[in-house]
Amino acid sequence: MSILKPVLSAHWDEPDSFTIAAYKRHGGYKPLAKALKSTPDEVIALVKESGLRGRGGAGFPTGSKWGFIPQGDNKPHYLVVNADESEPGTCKDIPLLMANPHALIEGIIIGSYAIRANHSFIYIRGEVVHVFRRVQKAIDDAYAAGLLGKNILGSGFDLELTLHAGAGAYICGEETALLDSLEGFRGQPRLRPPFPAIAGLYAMPTVVNNVESIASVPSIIANGADWFQAMGTEKSKGYTLYSLSGHVTNPGQFEAPLGITLRQILELAGGIRAGHELKFWTPGGSSTPMFTAEHLDVPLDYEGVAAAGSMLGTKALQIFDETTCVVRAALRWVEFYKHESCGKCTPCREGTWWLVQLMKDLEAGKGTEADLEKLLDLCDNIAGRSFCALADGAVSPIISSLKYFRAEYILHQTNGGCPFDPVASTLFETAGA
Ligand SMILES: Cc1cc2nc3c(=O)[nH]c(=O)nc-3n(C[C@H](O)[C@H](O)[C@H](O)COP(=O)(O)O)c2cc1C
Ligand code: SF4
Repeated sequence: MSILKPVLSAHWDEPDSFTIAAYKRHGGYKPLAKALKSTPDEVIALVKESGLRGRGGAGFPTGSKWGFIPQGDNKPHYLVVNADESEPGTCKDIPLLMANPHALIEGIIIGSYAIRANHSFIYIRGEVVHVFRRVQKAIDDAYAAGLLGKNILGSGFDLELTLHAGAGAYICGEETALLDSLEGFRGQPRLRPPFPAIAGLYAMPTVVNNVESIASVPSIIANGADWFQAMGTEKSKGYTLYSLSGHVTNPGQFEAPLGITLRQILELAGGIRAGHELKFWTPGGSSTPMFTAEHLDVPLDYEGVAAAGSMLGTKALQIFDETTCVVRAALRWVEFYKHESCGKCTPCREGTWWLVQLMKDLEAGKGTEADLEKLLDLCDNIAGRSFCALADGAVSPIISSLKYFRAEYILHQTNGGCPFDPVASTLFETAGA
């Protein structure tokens, strides 16, 4: 029996999987009818019991987040779905939205009912126009079917759903910057407290959840908390999408219970591309410290990855073989973070700029061993001393690559240039490449 557990991706190979007809053919929108027969508190209790944790990176329990929304406060409440997906390597929400947008819409209606919201939003990155169109069509079809708008399925519950396109800034995936951007301001993180559950969108109680988190909810309502609990590991329950990219034979989405290992996923994906071997990989996107071949058997759940020194993040497994220069890869990533730094706080705004300068020199073989200590010192002054987690993510590729590949950094200096660059390198000739 396959170790995979396709739920959200179960029908992606059907040509009409994204339509409301196909979604209903597979039982879609029945969980909504079931949820609307329960009380909002019962829905929250079920999601809590399932153990579902946020799939946007931090793994915060979804039911608890919903439970933080004050009830009976006579204020508007909002559910905001984070579809910004900009982290390098992260590529699960977009395929999910393209192939199965109604799972998200159904999850939004259930979640909004649970937190007593009558207006919800999807914040999607603006560059993905085709995805925007697909999701807007799915929303229109849901309205036409009486699943959005007034008196949904005769329950008396009303919900408006607005799809909003961002302008393409990584920082607008950070939930409070997202809220500022949605309100029409420049997207920069807000000071917390107050947390969004108390003062979020338009200063009203707000839940911000990732696409995959919300899209998982209908399956929990349909099959029960026990079904979800039975998958995964002790504290990381359920199934999830692992996105495999890079130097592998068959890259793609692998939906499996939490706790699967990279070794198992690679077996399903036909292994590292022919004739090559694994050098390093990220467990959850570029902001999560990299791993090496020694971590092939780390359980890919929140606890297993943390115990091994990284974070599960978005489960974006980016695979690099021995032909990749780790210094160059880390430089590319830090260039991304420098570009995306919103500029609000000094350690991140200035520090990422300096990281890029140092890394450029090191990659070009112009640095010294003392620069490595300077680099680590700079990282130490950025991580944990900045306003939001973007800065922590920016230093991750550097600190982790130095931990596992310090010798390769030094080799750049002794070689007088990148040993992986066929023009600058003599090593390549020696290796016969
Ligand atoms: C710089 C930065 C970028 C982020 N980008 C995203 C994103 O694109 N999508 C997302 O769901 N969460 C992103 N997050 C995490 C969100 O702040 C938030 O934790 C998440 O949307 C909560 O949803 P969840 O509880 O369902 O995981 C980002 C965080 C940071 C610091
Ligand atoms: S850490 Fe960077 S991205 Fe976050 S608020 Fe500061 S400058 Fe902006």
